[in-house]
Formats: sequence, structure tokens, C-alpha cells
Amino acid sequence: MTTDSQTEAGTGLQFPTGFLFGAATAAYQVEGAATVGGRGPSIWDTFAHTPGRVLGGETGDVAIEHHQRYREDVALMADLGLQAYRFSISWPRVQPDGSGALNTAGVDFYSRLIDELLAAGIEPWPTLYHWDLPQPLEDAGGWPERDTAERFADYAGAITAVLGDRVRQWTTLNEPWCSAFLGYGSGVHAPGRTDPAAAVRAGHHLMLGHGLAAGRLKAGGHKVGVTINLYDVLPVSDRDVDLDAARRIDGLQNRFFLDPVLLGSYPADVIEDLAEVTDFAHVQDGDLAVISTPLDMLGVNYYSRHVVTGEAGGGDDGHGGSGGASPWPGSEQVGFVKGDLPLTAMGWEIHAEGLTSVLERVATQYPSVPLYVTENGAAFPDVPDADGLVRDPDRISYLDGHLRACQAAIDLGVPLHGYFCWSLFDNFEWSWGYSRRFGLVYVDYETQTRTPKSSAYWYGDLIRGRLTP
Ligand code: FCB
Repeated sequence: MTTDSQTEAGTGLQFPTGFLFGAATAAYQVEGAATVGGRGPSIWDTFAHTPGRVLGGETGDVAIEHHQRYREDVALMADLGLQAYRFSISWPRVQPDGSGALNTAGVDFYSRLIDELLAAGIEPWPTLYHWDLPQPLEDAGGWPERDTAERFADYAGAITAVLGDRVRQWTTLNEPWCSAFLGYGSGVHAPGRTDPAAAVRAGHHLMLGHGLAAGRLKAGGHKVGVTINLYDVLPVSDRDVDLDAARRIDGLQNRFFLDPVLLGSYPADVIEDLAEVTDFAHVQDGDLAVISTPLDMLGVNYYSRHVVTGEAGGGDDGHGGSGGASPWPGSEQVGFVKGDLPLTAMGWEIHAEGLTSVLERVATQYPSVPLYVTENGAAFPDVPDADGLVRDPDRISYLDGHLRACQAAIDLGVPLHGYFCWSLFDNFEWSWGYSRRFGLVYVDYETQTRTPKSSAYWYGDLIRGRLTP
């Protein structure tokens, strides 16, 4: 991208009054302080400390020290002009065993963080589960076991009772697809199991946990939502075999979660695709009614598209683990194809139009629910200049394109009310360790110095309305 077009990025972008602009992080990716204040181990601690699981053997033990530096970090958010901060609560920090009394020291951290945000005029937007299951619950069987859903609902009820007076909108889960299918299917995420039937059960119990928690939150007078990662899934050609591959992947990626949560049923074709894997006997009467408890908001995380083929010859889906176990139970024959679009440092295709498509699809095919983009962003190999500035024109271009896609969705009548950039900071990118930088703010991992990249200033100007004449 040239300097000239950079200066134009953002011009003409206009969002409705009250549209919320924020940025996101997640506990294990930023907090560090892994054993401070009685925090217990999560499945990500165990996984990251297992040789060969995370690139370079890196862990979230220290991460970017957000636990210790949260005041400085909130001040930076305020300087940048953020209106909301999406963070996650570490379940093992506030309830180390995954059951029983809350850990006061852990709860105090989030209480102080929320107060600091409110004092800075920034809306706290907490997520209750961003993948860090307390290890004792995994030892008892993890998400493939029904009891984990009950434990999650208890935790959700307890923590929202303490912090809920200062939070307008709660989110139960972040991206249950990743927890279930990367955690228990392909094993590239914690807990690293490779059991397709367990992955499908985990998906169900995550949604059940969400539904049970939603009931508790609503009974307590709180607003509840859930965040799902959606892809624009396209067939590589209009041959039947490719159309069927697209149907399958759309089924597992998108409809496996959207249908139960918003319609109260599993898609019949997905149940059929999974027939060899599971008989769905784990689904009990009444579960789907619980799972489809009406939502106050649906969070959509969007990064890229999937172009798929039903014939051999395709590659992996961009989540790592090609050649290993598949995150697509019952659909292992499907291959993923790269088109000619530019790629991010994750190897993900940049396809902003797909964001309009997925938002419009949710708005038209499912009952109306307020939508928020709760994650969108890109990794690039950012390097500070000799003058110390971090210029990231590719990220500005990515964000500009995707914000235009949001605007296009709103113009089509989609009830989109906010947008959170992933991520506020460079951080621990799961099995990629610290090798992939998604931040608006550059973090020097040696010194923990934070340096806003040009995209951070650009985003701040956009929020303040300075880019639109
Ligand atoms: C999403 C995760 C988030 C981050 C981005 C890049 O799947 O929710 O934690 O890793 O991808």
C-alpha cells in the first residue's frame, strides 16, 4: 500500500451514533502472573508447558504482564480513544479448581480492572471463557463431559453476581468451535486431544454451558451474549463435489453453533455428516431449549474465508496441524484451497467482503439479535523503525477494508452495533507463541515496552471522527 492511499484509509467511513469501537484481548494471551494470587493452572498452562505443543516452547507465564501493568494499559487505551475494552476473565484465577468458592485475590484483579476502565470512560466488555479451562476440570474429563457445563454455569453465576453491577453486557464463550474442534479434534489447541467424537460432545457441552450460564445471568438481571467465529465458506467450483464440501464445512464451522444457539436445533445435514462419528446420544431432552435462551447480543469473530474442494489435493485450513488429526470430524476428505488474495502472516486470505456476507447471513437467516464484531484483525511481521516508530500500513488497510465491510452490512439493514479490533496488544498467539503480532500496540517482549503502531493512531482518529470530513 502506498503512503498516499494510507492517508485516505478511513475517509468516508461513518457509523451510526452509539456504534461502539473497542479492542480485544484474552486472559491467557496477555495477563501473565500465572501463579500470582492463588491462580490455578488451566489447560493452556499444561499444554504450553508440554514440549512440542507451542512454537519455540513459549508459554503465557509472563505474557505481556497485563495483570501487573493494567493501569498503564488502561491509560494507553484512553489515550488512543477506545470506547470499550473486551477482555476475558481467567476462570482458574477466580475459581482455581473450577468449582467451589471464588478466590478473592483473583476476583479483586478484575474488580480493579473494571473500576479503572470505568474511571477512564471505557466500557468493560468481559468474556467468561476464552479457552482457559481449569486443569482439574480437564482431569475430570473436560468439555466432552456434561458436568463441565454445570461447572461453567456455577462459575458464571458466581462471578457475575460479584462484578455484574458494573458491566452492561456479558459474553459467555469465545469461539466454541476452537475450544471443541481444535482442542479435542485436531489437538493443535489445549488440551491437545485428537478424538472426533469427544470434539463433537465438547461442542455440545460448551453450548450447554453457555445456555445454562445465560439462564443464570438473565435471572440475575444481566445481559448475555456469546461470541462465535464465522467464516465465509465458498466452493472452489460449482461441481457437486465442491458444493457438498462447502456445505459440510459451513455446517461444522458456522451452523453447528448458530442453529442450536439461535434456532434451538442442530442442522439435520450436519447430524448426518457426523453419523460415523457420534449418534448424538449426549444431547438430552431440553438441552436445545436451554442452549437457545434468547440473547441480548451475538458476537461475531471474523478473520478470513474458507475456499474448499471435495477432491483430494487441497491443503489445511490455516489453523496448523496439516497432516495430523483433522478438526473437521466426518469431513476429512475436504481440502482447503488458497485463491489469489493477499495473505496475512498467519497465511489467512484477506477477504473483507466475506465479513459483509457473514453478517448479512446471520441477520437474514436467523432471528433478529443485535450483532457486534467482537474480533477482527490481522498479523503482520511488524518491526520498529530506526526512529522507534512501528509503521503497519498493511494492518491499516486490513482494518479499513473490514470496517467498510461493516458499513456495507449496516447499509443493508444488518443490526450491527459495534466493532472490536483483535488485538489491542501483540500477545501470546496460542500454538504460534509470540511469533505472530496482531496488536494495534507493539510489545517489546524483552522490556515489556508498549509502542502504539500507526494503526493504533489511525484507529483512534477514526473513533474520534477525525478521518471523516
Ligand atoms: C481468535 C482468538 C483470539 C486470537 C485470534 C487471532 O480465534 O479468539 O484469541 O488468537 O483468533
